[in-house]
Amino acid sequence: MNLRQQQQKEFDESSENIIIGDEPLCPLQPSVLAAITEDSPFVLKVIRSGLTAEIYHLRIDGKEYNLKKRRQVAKVANLDGQYSFLNEVQRRNDLQKLKQKPETAQRLAHIVPTIYANYRLGIILSPWIEGEHISEITSDLMEQLFNTLLACEEYGLMEWDLCSGNLLVDEEQQLWLFDFGYMYSFDPKSEFNSNGITDPLFHMVERFETRFFFGWLLKREQPLVEQLALYRTLKQRAVVCYQQKVEWLKAHQAKVMVINHYQSIISAWQTALVNDEALWHLFLLELFRSHVLDIDDDIDGQSCTSLTLKRISIVLDILENNFDYLLLNDGLFYSNKGKSQQELIQRYKEKRLLAQKYQL
Ligand SMILES: Nc1ncnc2c1ncn2[C@@H]1O[C@H](COP(=O)(O)OP(=O)(O)OP(=O)(O)O)[C@@H](O)[C@H]1O
Ligand SMILES: [Mg+2]
Repeated sequence: MNLRQQQQKEFDESSENIIIGDEPLCPLQPSVLAAITEDSPFVLKVIRSGLTAEIYHLRIDGKEYNLKKRRQVAKVANLDGQYSFLNEVQRRNDLQKLKQKPETAQRLAHIVPTIYANYRLGIILSPWIEGEHISEITSDLMEQLFNTLLACEEYGLMEWDLCSGNLLVDEEQQLWLFDFGYMYSFDPKSEFNSNGITDPLFHMVERFETRFFFGWLLKREQPLVEQLALYRTLKQRAVVCYQQKVEWLKAHQAKVMVINHYQSIISAWQTALVNDEALWHLFLLELFRSHVLDIDDDIDGQSCTSLTLKRISIVLDILENNFDYLLLNDGLFYSNKGKSQQELIQRYKEKRLLAQKYQL
């Protein structure tokens, strides 16, 4: 158990509560909200896909709301999953305070506000966003996302779960973030991410690529040239974003180690943006990295889908055809590092069996 999980366990076992917002601004009494079921006349729709919570789309006095209600028993195997509802209330508490301050509000305009939340009652109430999950990932959406994440990170909050289900786009093409079950705090000036300095592999653009982008590409089955064109746009946006991040880090006397880390990421991307071949090489490396990471996430959470199996096929394909390239370019990491080609192929064949077993 890490320190955060330990603290969340202690909080959960105590009788302390976190309440966000004022009860009088709540359209219904909090206890009434907490008792809402599918049969309530306020309910327009229920979304039951969540592992720790259920989503109720409500209409009360002509206004629409999103009520996130904690499940009695979470359907997730790991600790982070078990504490994700508490974590979300904690992060919404941080974010709502920032959204209420004029100097920080603007940069968090894409974060869905919290009208009311009460940890012990197991409820979070937000306005309903009339939107869709991202179907076309445009340069503009990437910009909105990266700018929002950049602001969050400056305020010491890092979002890990940028999956399709956690991003909405409204009719005005505005992006919305609303699920903070896996957003953790960190010190952006001395740490790479909320794991401290042990895992430089993880950063916000990597999170977007791993949880969203490469999976989205896999579902789309576009020609490679189109995939690379989109990847180029992504890297261009990402360079601009990390240049801003480095400026901020320098202006705030961040540790040289952190500044150098981001600068080296920028220069790797800039090198790839020079020509198509270099871009293809980086694409292969990052695609492999993202699929490897996401496969383990799915298997660890015992929540695999057909996409997990597709990812495993791609990883096996790259291991079979581009193993030397991975080896030479630091493409193997964590427990894959130092393993032979045959060992890795065997390993991913075993993961395929696990992923078949854990299909949701
Ligand atoms: N404020 C909102 N407005 C409109 N739709 C929303 C809003 N919040 C959530 N949704 C919809 O509900 C879905 C699930 O919400 P959310 O991601 O918060 O919970 P979850 O991921 O299902 O829960 P868990 O954290 O237990 O996995 C979203 O994918 C989105 O479609
Ligand atoms: Mg979600």
